[in-house]
Amino acid sequence: MDIEYVRSRFKKHFFGTTGSVYASPGRINLIGEHTDYNGGFVFPGAVQQGMVLEINPNGTDKVRAYSIDLKDYVEFGLGLYDAPKATWARYIYGVCREMILRGVKVKGFDTAFAGDVPLGAGMSSSAALESAFAFAVNDMFGDNKVSKFDLAKVGQATEHKYIGVNCGIMDQFASVFGKEKCLIRLDCRSLEYEYFPFDPQGYKLVLLNSNVKHELASSAYNDRRKSCETVVAEIAKTHPEVTLLRDATFEMLEEVKDKVSEEDYKCAYYVIGETDRVLAVCDALQKGDYETVGQKMYETHEGLSKNYKVSCEELDFLNDIAKECGVTGSRVMGGGFGGCTINLVKEDLYDKFIATANVKYAEKFGKKPGVIDVVIGDGSRKLV
Ligand code: GLA
Repeated sequence: MDIEYVRSRFKKHFFGTTGSVYASPGRINLIGEHTDYNGGFVFPGAVQQGMVLEINPNGTDKVRAYSIDLKDYVEFGLGLYDAPKATWARYIYGVCREMILRGVKVKGFDTAFAGDVPLGAGMSSSAALESAFAFAVNDMFGDNKVSKFDLAKVGQATEHKYIGVNCGIMDQFASVFGKEKCLIRLDCRSLEYEYFPFDPQGYKLVLLNSNVKHELASSAYNDRRKSCETVVAEIAKTHPEVTLLRDATFEMLEEVKDKVSEEDYKCAYYVIGETDRVLAVCDALQKGDYETVGQKMYETHEGLSKNYKVSCEELDFLNDIAKECGVTGSRVMGGGFGGCTINLVKEDLYDKFIATANVKYAEKFGKKPGVIDVVIGDGSRKLV
């Protein structure tokens, strides 16, 4: 991220003033997809790409916000009925409102921000934006009294209440808690987490961006979540201890097979299997068994594509190319409906894989995929 660029834009836009600078990253997720809102496990890590913002209290009761990337400027108040129309500004407004609800006395400020997380690529550019503002507002107006967990929850609540995406906690958690060279296993029910040093000798993690842009707000993301909840409600009739799919077993699912739609059944089938796969991957990682890690990634892709139905032709094609090239593991990453595949590839296969993917993808879809080498970086922080 180019900090000086953000600083120069801020200065130009806000008449020579300067403020404090904060950053928050996007994320990858090795495995554990659509498990967070089911109380299961996820295995994300922060990336080096992220959002950088400069912020300075302006002595008024208004926020004056400039999106450097969109070249768009919006002013809004911080009251209950002041929500701005522009979606990008609603993220900032939502974060401020949620911080106010948590007791922070947020005042007016000037801000300019820019990011280098590709939009709609499933790398959580929106969580990076929310976490950056939550962290900054906490530092600037809240004496850092709001805990890191609550900062992540502020971002999640912003998605729920101001954007309309009923997401889980993974993205905001990874953005706030990220740590260089580490993946994080998070139990989304208890919120217990553990850092796993991740430096697979002889392998690389690379994202291939299908360049099919996804927008969770207009996708079937919320429908998938509803499917899971429908199955839980059915299972809970005979197993009241089951409050999330995390608690359910394949046997319980079979018991309600005839009572739920085929679509809902398949969603639940995928989720129950995915919780086991994350634990198998943790185990395999500890043993340095990357073949098993990769195999589980392929299994996850299969489940996300055939049962959870959040893949698309382009992502399935990229997954097939990975398989044909002998890549160790590959799968659609994040919410789906577009975005990237994440690939665990042996170093000596890397060049051939990328070259093959470029040629074949361009032949079929008339454009090359984006190639993003994953470097695991730190979470939300103050830069200046
Ligand atoms: C999006 C959501 C997350 C999570 C993933 C799928 O990124 O924001 O909460 O549900 O999709 O794993």
